[in-house]
This record gives sequence, C-alpha cells and structure tokens, in this order.
Amino acid sequence: MKIKYFGHSCFLIDDELLIDPFISGNPKCPFEPNEIKCKIICVTHDHPDHLGDAFEIAKNNDATIVAIHEIAQEALKRGIKAEGMNIGGEISSGGWKIKMVLALHSSNLGHPAGFVLDKNGKRIYHAGDTGLFGDMRIIGEEGLDLALLPIGDRYTMGTKDAVKATELLNPNMVIPMHYGTFPVINPSPEEFKKVFESKFKEKIVKVMKIGEEIEF
Ligand code: NI
Ligand code: MN
Repeated sequence: MKIKYFGHSCFLIDDELLIDPFISGNPKCPFEPNEIKCKIICVTHDHPDHLGDAFEIAKNNDATIVAIHEIAQEALKRGIKAEGMNIGGEISSGGWKIKMVLALHSSNLGHPAGFVLDKNGKRIYHAGDTGLFGDMRIIGEEGLDLALLPIGDRYTMGTKDAVKATELLNPNMVIPMHYGTFPVINPSPEEFKKVFESKFKEKIVKVMKIGEEIEF
C-alpha cells in the first residue's frame, strides 16, 4: 500500500483515499487543490487546517466526503456526495472499511474524530487533532500497520504524549504529522524520531517530506 504526504495532517492513501486536505491555505504545501485526484475524502473535523479544500477537491473529483454527520450535511447542501457518520460507527465505501473513533479536541460542527481505515487487511489509524487518551489502547487492539500521530503540541499531543500514544496503540509504524506548518507548532520531528527509536527498537518511525510517497 502507498501513502503520500501533502503536509500538516494531509495524506493520500493508495491514490484514492485523501485525509484532511489542507492544501491552498498551507504555507508549506507546494501543491494546488486541482492537482489532487481521489475517490474518498475523510475529514476529521471542521477546523480550517483539516476541512481545508475538501469540498473543492470533492467537487473536482466527484469524490465522497466521509465525516461526522454535521460536516456531511454541509457537504450535501453544496451538492457534494457525502457519508455522514459518528464516533464508534463503521461504514464501507469504495473497498475501504472506515471506522470513526474518538479524538479529544474541539470543533464548530459536530465532534472531532479520528479514523481507522482498513483495506485488504491493512489497518491505518489517523488520529486527527487529539490529546492523549487511554482508549487508544482499544483502538490498537485489533492490530495497526500504521499510525499517523500529531506531534505539534499546543493544539494536540506533543512529542512525549505521542510516544505514550505509540505505546498504547502498538502500531508497526508511525508517521508524525501536524508540525512545522506554523511557528506555534514547530517541534523537531527528528527529536520525536530520536526518542521513538530509543524506546521502540522493533518499530519504524518515518518522518515524511511534503510530496514524498512511500510503500508500507
Ligand atoms: Ni483542530
Ligand atoms: Mn489542526
């Protein structure tokens, strides 16, 4: 399976499932919304650095927005295809099983969320914006190939809590996100990598460059 990083908390998985497309407003992202092709767009919450260009990219691609009920309603009002859901629910869309899980954060529309994405037995957790919480242990219980975790601090977990989250989630691999976009969230991903590697000898941490694509 492939994953491409567009900066902040935005990833494209297997050329079809896009998450939190903050493209035109991201000073560090060199891409344009109309360059991005996808079939499904998962949105964790309605803060502008996550909802971002989701509606525009959905329109360009005739893609389906998957989000909490209240955001899905906004998409439907704009004539965009959408699957509304809520925390704890799971849907099937385009060959993916998409489960919405808790995120400890704030939002204007509905509740903030994370996603567990499953295709052909590969399981990926995108935490959205969240602080550390103990039920991450339950999210990890069925096994995770990859966890996408915020490390930016201030608005989400920082390095120390992201390391603790890794302990609870027990994924094979972690990619840090939600750092370096703005001066107020500027921890070093290399510092996270250093702490991570000293603690988890058998796990992989990958600090992705914007525009980079890897196989996992
Ligand atoms: Ni947020
Ligand atoms: Mn955010």
